[in-house]
Amino acid sequence: MKSIKKNLIQILLVFTILLFAVFAFSSSSGVNEKIKQAKDPYDNLMEPPIPIPANTVKVLIPYQGGDFYTETRKDKIERFQCTSCHGNKEVMIKNAAKISHADTIIVHGGKSGPLDCNTCHSTENRDFLNTSKEKEIDMDHVYTLCGECHFRQKKDWIGGAHGKSVSHWAGERVVKNCTSCHNPHSPRFEKRYPATYSPPLKQTGN
Ligand code: HEC
Ligand code: HEC
Ligand code: HEC
Ligand code: HEC
Repeated sequence: MKSIKKNLIQILLVFTILLFAVFAFSSSSGVNEKIKQAKDPYDNLMEPPIPIPANTVKVLIPYQGGDFYTETRKDKIERFQCTSCHGNKEVMIKNAAKISHADTIIVHGGKSGPLDCNTCHSTENRDFLNTSKEKEIDMDHVYTLCGECHFRQKKDWIGGAHGKSVSHWAGERVVKNCTSCHNPHSPRFEKRYPATYSPPLKQTGN
């Protein structure tokens, strides 16, 4: 009696396996079709999943890690465009520069005194910056100006050791521009006290 039961179970088992095999075979073409139709979810992995933030420009310096971007500046400068006043008409008022830009106080330079406005600002077109080498630097590419004198910080900045990352660590990364942090007219940061004090250490028993 027992062996009949055992045989029956075995037969049933073989039968179900056969049934599955037939079913799988008959629908295998359908499965292959589905696989072919499926879109590779990693197909466009090279596209950054987070888009590059708005108001950034591609940095014009070659870097081994590839292109990177920095924040624009012109849209943040209140008195841009400078040429709305700095046209080709001469200003006849005495001390016009002092009156117009009284709030621009230069605390930037070496022992020989503060830097001159025209060391950085182009006299030919006030919308642009200049160095001894380059006549017209777009204000969005201000790092070119700062880097003329502060080449060590510029090198660190390119590599990501100075400044701050805004988006991504590699690939199409975006970093803060020099003047996103430093005021070009007074670039040193004010000394300040911490906003809060460190809470006293809690004594732990014994
Ligand atoms: C509201 C008008 C106005 C705007 C806008 C303006 N300026 Fe001026 N700026 C003047 C006048 C007026 C003078 C004095 C006459 C001159 O030098 O052309 C002056 C003078 C200057 C000087 C010479 C300062 C000196 O001590 O010799 C610099 C540099 C300068 N401006 C830079 C800029 C820059 C850079 C911008 C744009 C970010 C700008 N200005 C926008 C009105 C303006
Ligand atoms: C070390 C270089 C440097 C010197 C020196 C300098 N500037 Fe500038 N200035 C800049 C840069 C860079 C910007 C753009 C700032 C930014 O990206 O926000 C700027 C911005 C400005 C602006 C527009 C921003 C604002 O405050 O409204 C004015 C106006 C200006 N400069 C006037 C002057 C005048 C006048 C002098 C001389 C008394 C002078 N600058 C000296 C580098 C310099
Ligand atoms: C023409 C050369 C020149 C340019 C261009 C220039 N700087 Fe300077 N910068 C100097 C000199 C000189 C000093 C004073 C160095 C010192 O005191 O050791 C200085 C000082 C500084 C300091 C303070 C350093 C310290 O040790 O406290 C900072 C920050 C700075 N610059 C940032 C900038 C930034 C940002 C720009 C671009 C907007 C810029 N500089 C453009 C010449 C330049
Ligand atoms: C995220 C903000 C930030 C950006 C962007 C930035 N800096 Fe700085 N920078 C700092 C801070 C913070 C210090 C340290 C200031 C201190 O110790 O008082 C500093 C210090 C400096 C100094 C003084 C010397 C030193 O190394 O301590 C110079 C010069 C300087 N920066 C130039 C630049 C230049 C040039 C750029 C652009 C290529 C730039 N910085 C971009 C925040 C920034």
